[in-house]
Amino acid sequence: MQARIVLLPGDGIGPDIVSSARQVLSRIAEIFSHQFDMPEHLVGGAAIDATGVPFPDETAAACRDCRGVLLGAVGGPKWDDPKAKVRPEQGLLQMRSAMGVFANLRPVHTLPALMAASPLKNEKLEGVDFLVVRELTGGIYFGEKSEGTEVASDLCTYTAEEVARIVHMAAKLAGDRRGKLTLVHKANVLATSRLWITVTQKILSEHYPALDYDTLLVDAAAMSLLTEPSRFDVIVTENMFGDILTDEAAAVAGSIGILPSASLSDAGPGLYEPIHGSAPDLAGTGRANPFGTLLSAAMLLDLSLGLKEEAQWLRETVEQCIDHGETTGDLGGPLGTEDATRAVLARLEHRSAA
Ligand code: IPM
Ligand code: MG
Repeated sequence: MQARIVLLPGDGIGPDIVSSARQVLSRIAEIFSHQFDMPEHLVGGAAIDATGVPFPDETAAACRDCRGVLLGAVGGPKWDDPKAKVRPEQGLLQMRSAMGVFANLRPVHTLPALMAASPLKNEKLEGVDFLVVRELTGGIYFGEKSEGTEVASDLCTYTAEEVARIVHMAAKLAGDRRGKLTLVHKANVLATSRLWITVTQKILSEHYPALDYDTLLVDAAAMSLLTEPSRFDVIVTENMFGDILTDEAAAVAGSIGILPSASLSDAGPGLYEPIHGSAPDLAGTGRANPFGTLLSAAMLLDLSLGLKEEAQWLRETVEQCIDHGETTGDLGGPLGTEDATRAVLARLEHRSAA
């Protein structure tokens, strides 16, 4: 297969972890006789420095003309002035919106080798395997804003259509998993949440009657993620609730450094990124954990290129490294970014020779 994958290193540790992904994707292409063209483009603070804007037109054009986009991370103290007119994070939001990637998939499962790193007792972690489907291009993130010194406002709006398309996606994903779907909302307070519930119920009863469906208030969901995380299969929720709950879920899994994400539209290229941030304190130290990015690359192979076997190889290889302690310091291992990448490459080599 011939495919173009756009790489967006971004800021902080972004360049280190995306370089790791480039090496690993190149090796997978060789092993499976594919040709991946992987041009790099600017986004975030790096783009602000070079062009004045966080998501330049040239990057936008590149993101349209490819099969998938792999992003490192954006942001850092250099661009953190709250009074700044442009911020790196705006680039991320503009990119999500421009690419129309309304569904953000964040899978969470616990690996035995990481259980010790989780703040939860191990018995709570048995069987934890869920997927958060977060709405990504609507809600309070994208509503009208006003900002003054005495009053400020962020509007949260959802249309039935925005809810319907993500519920369809989440319901299909649940059908391919354990058949359980939980809608997380705040319908005791928010009108938008009541719309989510009505639309979801209608779609599920018409199209997916076999799903085991329940709803959970977001505050209760935040608690359940800690008290009974194995109860969840697929969680579908609005933009901001999904943002908050997925950081919490990452901590439950033992490390935010390894969780991948995929952002999908109905057609068109997907956007893949680790859920962690740009970790400015680790930038340039060679200590960043590349596994979240490599697992995001695996999701890209699977969901945007349809390369299931290649994706599985990559996923399993990273998990073997974790099982064998071939990890960076955040996971308790002795390796830096480059050696962790070499460990993955060595295991791929070994497997392809077998
Ligand atoms: C995420 C991040 C972003 C978000 C920030 C950087 C704008 O926290 O991808 O979860 O809130 O969506
Ligand atoms: Mg977040």
